[in-house]
Amino acid sequence: MTDTSGQIDHVLNEDRTFPPPAEFTEKAVFSSKSQYDEACKRASEDRDGFWKEEAEKHLHWFEPFNQVCRWDAPNVEWFVGGKTNASYNCLDRHVEAGRGDRTAILWEGEPGDTRCLSYAELRTEVAKCAAALQELGIGTGDVVSVYMPMTPELAIIMLACARIGAVHSVIFAGFSAESIADRNNDAKAKLVVTADGLHRRGKVLPLKETVDEALAKSPTVEKCLVLRRVGQDGVAMQEGRDVWWHDVVDKQSGDLPAKPLDSETTLFILYTSGSTGKPKGIRHTTAGYNLWAMRTFQWVFDHREEDVYWCTADCGWITGHSYIVYGPLSAGATCLMYEGAPNHPAEDRFWDLVEKYKVTTLYTAPTAIRAFIKWGDEHVEKHDLSSLRLLGSVGEGINPEAWMWYHEKIGYENCPIVDTWWQTETGGIMMSPLPGITATKPGSCTTPLPGIVPKIVDEAGKPVQQNNGGMLCIAEPWPGMLRGIWGDEERFVEQYWSTVPGMYLTGDNARQDEDGYYWIMGRIDDVINVSGHRLSTIEVESALVSHEAVCEAAVVGRPDDLKGQAIAAFVTIRDREPDDALRTELRQHVRKQIGALAQPDDLRFAATLPKTRSGKIMRRLLRDVASGREIGGDTSTLEDFSVIAKLSEDE
Ligand code: WTA
Repeated sequence: MTDTSGQIDHVLNEDRTFPPPAEFTEKAVFSSKSQYDEACKRASEDRDGFWKEEAEKHLHWFEPFNQVCRWDAPNVEWFVGGKTNASYNCLDRHVEAGRGDRTAILWEGEPGDTRCLSYAELRTEVAKCAAALQELGIGTGDVVSVYMPMTPELAIIMLACARIGAVHSVIFAGFSAESIADRNNDAKAKLVVTADGLHRRGKVLPLKETVDEALAKSPTVEKCLVLRRVGQDGVAMQEGRDVWWHDVVDKQSGDLPAKPLDSETTLFILYTSGSTGKPKGIRHTTAGYNLWAMRTFQWVFDHREEDVYWCTADCGWITGHSYIVYGPLSAGATCLMYEGAPNHPAEDRFWDLVEKYKVTTLYTAPTAIRAFIKWGDEHVEKHDLSSLRLLGSVGEGINPEAWMWYHEKIGYENCPIVDTWWQTETGGIMMSPLPGITATKPGSCTTPLPGIVPKIVDEAGKPVQQNNGGMLCIAEPWPGMLRGIWGDEERFVEQYWSTVPGMYLTGDNARQDEDGYYWIMGRIDDVINVSGHRLSTIEVESALVSHEAVCEAAVVGRPDDLKGQAIAAFVTIRDREPDDALRTELRQHVRKQIGALAQPDDLRFAATLPKTRSGKIMRRLLRDVASGREIGGDTSTLEDFSVIAKLSEDE
């Protein structure tokens, strides 16, 4: 289980450490090591006392909670008996504190159109949208699927759901109709919110058409709310089912109050890939998640009043949920939101935005950084990036080369880099440097945040020695932890809580060095990380096998300079020639089944798949083949693994 061969090998250069700049050691939220140590000590010795104080101070309560944490692994409840509302915490309380004029969202569309929404304006829009949801028959506990471009309305619909206790399930707008239908059906969604289209690299993607295809297979969905974003002509609107956003939202009064909701009311579900074929709906609840997103945002990004913060993620992923919407807005931050591609109209778009909006805090992904390196420094050098004071990274380990480039070219060597390790399941950042106190080492996510107790254990559940790899687990509950998998309690227990009893199993491998710093070493399961997106190899295999020409398929990750990992597929076929036409057809098929992000980068035909004597596909061998470490050769011919299979011992 702890086999990490085939994962990206980082060139570790642990000798280089970068101390926090003086500006941070003086002013940051955590500006001294003793302050951090004290918070960690308090959180571990008096967990309830620590979180009681945090929750009382940083969330608004309609009714106070009477118990801080009810923990009976794997079940947990936080702030039991309390009533709060995430939309209220993100909007109303700032407006009521006289900060309604402060800019909440600065938005730029890919074609260059712009919008600016103050906290007061955003609250009005959210209240209108929430009233429209009610008019469409949505109430507390109903699931709303959201398949939208990165427009302010995406944040608005999320917060509108939160306002009335509806459960949002955001589906990244790159997923296929099949994937949308699967998610609608699993969640029993009642409403789908979408747009006529999406701008991407100068083209328009017809989102509503994709949704129509999905709705033909989504029996629980009653209505579809459609935003006019691109002004596409001829959008088919089905009578009685489809409604335009401007017809139903704009006419509302905008004064619908936030509903007091029990702390453990489901705030959202977000589908992510696990080690089996079917994506799982990770369930997060109101109070604990909200507090965790907010406090981790303030701690890690050292949030200050004058900041212009930009997280380049899409709201279709957890990073967008926690660090575009719930975290920063709860903290009253001014957030830049951008709709499109980083290389449209040119490769300097991000740097143009940083300069134009005087962004102070930039949170992006290593895969993007590697693309910028490839595109050339001239695109960066054209712009004045001196407004930046802090840089963040998320989604996968950042390789030291990319780290150094980010540090030198973007940070002008004086911005701390926070390499944040976390997961959809953890709700928010778990390990990260704190910019005022942590000396950083390129490639390490350094140390846990207060209240987080990581353990690295072997297969028997025993702690491993320093610098040895092992399974990364979390021993104590934290407010932002997942509460379950939507509709699948058994899988929740099986997946996260049965390997090491009493501890949350992250699915990542890690080691801890002599300074106590953590280094993430990749996954222990069949999850691959392609451009920071999580995919299960089995999910892609199932998509391939659903094509009539495919008998068997095996999918593995292989190292890729840009994406971190690329998808390599091996298939055996029937009744067809193994030619380029079929290869293209199969790649298209996966695209249609899951989405473009799952399309195999390499697709090889094999006469047989190499298997152990017990019939298990030899993934380690395929990873070697896929990364060119063995065999290789002409990919248009059939690969014959039969000899190897016969010679090899069981894995
Ligand atoms: C990986 C994204 C190394 C890891 C927030 C994790 C990372 C998975 C890092 C979660 C990091 C994320 N260093 N690996 N800083 N951040 N990962 O659910 O394997 O999309 O388990 O959440 O991404 O991906 P997810």
